[in-house]
Amino acid sequence: MLLQELKPQTIIELSAFNGGIGVSFADSLEIIGIKGNIYEVDIDLSLLDEKAKADSRVKFLQGDCNKLEEVFPAEMLAELPHPWLVIEDAHVNLIAVADYFHNNGPEPGDYLIVEDTSKYMWQAWQENWDDSGELEKGSQKMDDLRSWLMRHENEYLVDTHYLDMYGYNGSKNWNSILKRF
Ligand SMILES: C[S@@+](CC[C@H](N)C(=O)[O-])C[C@H]1O[C@@H](n2cnc3c(N)ncnc32)[C@H](O)[C@@H]1O
Repeated sequence: MLLQELKPQTIIELSAFNGGIGVSFADSLEIIGIKGNIYEVDIDLSLLDEKAKADSRVKFLQGDCNKLEEVFPAEMLAELPHPWLVIEDAHVNLIAVADYFHNNGPEPGDYLIVEDTSKYMWQAWQENWDDSGELEKGSQKMDDLRSWLMRHENEYLVDTHYLDMYGYNGSKNWNSILKRF
């Protein structure tokens, strides 16, 4: 729905993993009839599926969320058409990532989505699938986002149109679909 309603000209996702989401963004934009730019970043592009790698509609970039200025220099971001949809899904360096995009040209109407801010999701992840210590890092996301939003409360709306569609914060993204205004 967001893709259909926003009609993003630029999608930036941190991070690509096996590339499946990037390809599905490309399919969705094609169906909607939008020729948007899709950038998928990951620190380890060896994770990419061969079919995703071969998809010329998606630009896969190797890069580190701790050094975003090397992946997306300010001059490059300045050229990228709006509206933007920026998605943070690497769970690394959230505040600096949000600051970096905030300081490099978002326009009214652009979106920033921070994935997986629900602490329950991280608890379930640890209990059921992976006990490798991600819980603490993941649980920190909501706190980090809250403190970031306190500094930017006059610049971003928490978009309940999408967040509360299935009940109050009824997804794993709590209060984290943000619209620049
Ligand atoms: C949760 S997965 C991303 C899932 C993907 N967005 C999807 O929906 O399929 C997290 C990814 O973050 C990447 N990652 C970890 N540290 C990173 C860093 N410092 N910079 C960029 N990517 C990183 C990992 O390689 C991994 O592929």
